[in-house]
Amino acid sequence: MATEKSSSRSWMSDAAIYQIYPRSFKDSTGSGLGDIAGITQQMDYLEQLGIEAIWLSPFYPSPLVDGGYDVADYCDVDPRLGSLDDFDDMITAAHAHGIKVIVDIVPNHSSNQHPWFKAALAAGPGSPERDRYIFRDGRGEHGELPPTNWNANFGGPAWTRVADGQWYLHMFTPEQPDFDWSCPEVHAFFCDVLAFWSDRGVDGFRIDVAHGLAKDLDRDDLDRWHLAEGDDMVDDGTHPLWDRNEVHEIYREWRRVFDRYDPPRSAVAEAWVLPERQYLYARPSELGQTFNFEFAKATWTYDDMHAAIEEGLKAAIESDSASTWVLSNHDVPRVATRYALPQIKATRYHQIALDWLLRDGSSYDEDRELGERRARAALLLELALPGSAYVYQGEELGLFEVADIPWAALEDPTATNTHGPKREKGRDGCRVPLPWVAADDPAQGGSFGFSPADADAAPHLLQPAWFSDYAADREEADPTSMLALYRDALWLRRKLRGCANDLKWLDLDGRTGLADGAEGAEGGVIAYRRDNGWACVTNFGAAPVELPTGRVLLTSSPLVDGRLAQDSSAWIMLAEL
Ligand code: GLC
Repeated sequence: MATEKSSSRSWMSDAAIYQIYPRSFKDSTGSGLGDIAGITQQMDYLEQLGIEAIWLSPFYPSPLVDGGYDVADYCDVDPRLGSLDDFDDMITAAHAHGIKVIVDIVPNHSSNQHPWFKAALAAGPGSPERDRYIFRDGRGEHGELPPTNWNANFGGPAWTRVADGQWYLHMFTPEQPDFDWSCPEVHAFFCDVLAFWSDRGVDGFRIDVAHGLAKDLDRDDLDRWHLAEGDDMVDDGTHPLWDRNEVHEIYREWRRVFDRYDPPRSAVAEAWVLPERQYLYARPSELGQTFNFEFAKATWTYDDMHAAIEEGLKAAIESDSASTWVLSNHDVPRVATRYALPQIKATRYHQIALDWLLRDGSSYDEDRELGERRARAALLLELALPGSAYVYQGEELGLFEVADIPWAALEDPTATNTHGPKREKGRDGCRVPLPWVAADDPAQGGSFGFSPADADAAPHLLQPAWFSDYAADREEADPTSMLALYRDALWLRRKLRGCANDLKWLDLDGRTGLADGAEGAEGGVIAYRRDNGWACVTNFGAAPVELPTGRVLLTSSPLVDGRLAQDSSAWIMLAEL
């Protein structure tokens, strides 16, 4: 598979990008919340890791109902996380370390504390202030019933009634009212927001819920569509709420803003859409890149991982963009835990991990040794692929999901808003503050180096004692640690990667693919090479496999008699092309 190198490619198209969830990365003030200055403090660590950019999840002023994805001011820093001066210092330090900066833009909804929403409530029905959001009269004799029957993501109804009787739409929590993107003011506002951060030196943007902005509520069949489940997605852009064709007009408008800068700014769409429509967001005339979540959804099986790669490459070629590879992020259970649980294909992504979380980690055995071994193999499988790779903070330490956070301590609205069979514990287990220093024991008032020694408050989510084994300083001293593997792999990748979407599958003397007689998802070898001879082999099966002739560059676990054991990957520079 090969394509012409596109002239429209940006630095983002083959970069390794590290996602920072700011509240849980590093606390410089002792408040128990991570902050912007904390990121600046860790710039050496980030540079040594070998990543080329950081993406910051929202750090804007926010009531933090949804981890900051409820923005009250799009052009400032939450005072608990610092100031715009801190942001400027951080970006200067990042650039000095050769690291680019991506910020998160949340255009589908604001916080209900945003001045525009407060003004909409005050101004009343029919006012221009209400036109920026989606207000409707209710149904029933006195408008007492919501305009449609929709449930919101994270549970509960998708409409909330205000004092004067009207209802407003929120795809997420009631504290996150949806903007009305048919309102020209909303368009102008977000173009200004993109320019504001671009002017401050930001190199790119991650677009939250990019597939949700355009909506068609002027039709009479709304009740037959779903807002939350996402299982009635259509492939022609006519769903009233998701992935509508007109949403692309918004991104063409944004491209004109990005192209005002030199170099042009780039963006990546978070769009949970049908795979065949993913690439539309990545077109060079739009955002330039879209997340391919297939790895994050896949089980650790030959079938799933192979299909994920095929899908990603196909989408990239069709869109003349580059693929993106994601093992985990702040919304999904940690990869090492997913691979430590039974690899059962469920109808809902991560169902096994979500059930396990619901029972505080007691319903399945979490085989951590196995999870770590597979996560190491997955990293090499991922990083040799063409395209960009996203690393979620703590993944490089091999952190597992924290399953036993008490319900009362959970912050994720999913935990409070879901009930009955849909009950979920939420996403806090992958958002626990990072352990930096093993010896700074929380039992003695420490925080594994997350907060300074004289901190006023404990970390906002408590760290479990086992985090000490995964602290960055301990792993830095251990050449066999996950951190050492991430560093080696990320730096090697920078030397070896090509720029085109090239990849050739390797047939290792018939051993590639599912082994004969293998049951269901067992076994198989995924092997591919890039055009410069850089090859990756991953063995899913019980029998060790011979590697192709060449120089072994890196392995995820030691070879056994020169062969690659189960749940392992190796990078090889092939002797012959
Ligand atoms: C995206 C974010 C998620 C957030 C949601 C609503 O999916 O990744 O964390 O809760 O949007 O903004």
